[in-house]
Amino acid sequence: MKIAVAGTGYVGLVAGVCFAEVGHMVTCVDVDENKIQLLKSGVSPIYEADLERLMRKNYDEGRIDYTMDYREAYRNADAIFIGVGTPERPDGSANLTYIAAVARQIAESIEKECLVVVKSTVPIGTNDKVEQFINDFLVNDVHVEVASNPEFLAQGSAVRDTLQAARIIIGTESDWAKEMLMKIYEPFHLPIVAVKRRSAEMIKYASNDFLALKISYMNDIANLCELVGADIGEVAQGMSFDSRIGSRFLNAGIGYGGSCFPKDTKALEYLAKQHGYELRTVKAAIDVNKEQKVILYKKACKRLITFHGLKVAVLGLTFKPGTDDLREAPSLDNIPLLLENGADIFAYDPVGTDNFKKLYPEGRNGRGSITYVERPEEALENANLCFIFTEWGSIAALKPYIYQKFMKTPLVYDGRNIYDVNEMRKAGIEYHSIGRRQ
Ligand code: UGA
Repeated sequence: MKIAVAGTGYVGLVAGVCFAEVGHMVTCVDVDENKIQLLKSGVSPIYEADLERLMRKNYDEGRIDYTMDYREAYRNADAIFIGVGTPERPDGSANLTYIAAVARQIAESIEKECLVVVKSTVPIGTNDKVEQFINDFLVNDVHVEVASNPEFLAQGSAVRDTLQAARIIIGTESDWAKEMLMKIYEPFHLPIVAVKRRSAEMIKYASNDFLALKISYMNDIANLCELVGADIGEVAQGMSFDSRIGSRFLNAGIGYGGSCFPKDTKALEYLAKQHGYELRTVKAAIDVNKEQKVILYKKACKRLITFHGLKVAVLGLTFKPGTDDLREAPSLDNIPLLLENGADIFAYDPVGTDNFKKLYPEGRNGRGSITYVERPEEALENANLCFIFTEWGSIAALKPYIYQKFMKTPLVYDGRNIYDVNEMRKAGIEYHSIGRRQ
């Protein structure tokens, strides 16, 4: 099939490459000329395992191309997938400007019957509006329908999550649209759940918000564990054997980040409010997460008189390992607080440093300063305390004695529960983590 994909971010680019990989003819469209040049040269603008290999393979074999010329890409397409961003507005609602811009371009370009498929996460009811909008602005008299096909990939494992997805959700309002999508996904050999359009839109939010709730629930229980002398690791392990609960997304820590859970929890809460309903469970998840992000900083404030003049090692800047994405990362909540309070930060991250530098250039910053280092040991050398914000392999691989050996005073605040509490104690480290006895 001839497929066009609007947007070459996580959702669009990965979908485009995976469609090409299973044999479709794909054109990816983006408004950013630099990005298009980069993509044509086989370089991915996002850090994602295996993506560049598949980009190059499918480009060389002639199944994928990249362009700014949306008219040409959309004109004859059998299906156009929309994978542009839906960022959060200050009030928590989803900003649909990019979706609307693409819908307008589609309406002006298509010359034959076409299925428009919204992959971006959009508030329930948006697909109806997109269909109406395209039909209102349609230049040629052709049949066009909109379907919902939400994306469930996680950053860091995007290609695998797409090619081996647990399920494909397709939301359609006609048999024609449903059959078109079934045909597109046939070569993936994955379970397909066909539902109505609004249900598909809701499945995406309900899934993400459920996972966010699960994490916030574990963080809430972890905080209580500390007060009553239980261990959240042991509690999670015990819970995980119940298949109704499952073993994944039970890790307590310094709060969920990224471009999805924070945005999608707020968007659903906003949507509910618009309909006169208070989504109390999701609101609770949002509130717990907000507090959780600074929980270690607050613990450190109680323990120390001041951060002023202290060398603070920060290990991990990205919101999770396997990505260079900083959106809603706990480091962004904590580093400004540390700088305001006069800390001299030495930060290490295996891939996120360049992006962080754009926000916090190296050198003095307010009352404190920030220096970026290449190796975790350099951050730890002579440090008075250390915060661990991301469980990168290169950080988790540091043996407890390294902290003792390099730090001036081995005081460690671990937001990812990487270490065994007893081993850290045996190594002579004052170790604070989440939901465990110190
Ligand atoms: C998430 C979902 O997992 C995907 O299914 C979904 O498609 C995606 O959002 C999206 O809507 O696009 P992602 O944001 O890439 O994917 O990352 P996750 O691996 O889900 O992690 C999100 C956050 O939760 C991270 O900050 C992570 O550290 C935190 N987390 C995760 C925990 O604190 N504890 C856990 O047990 C699991």
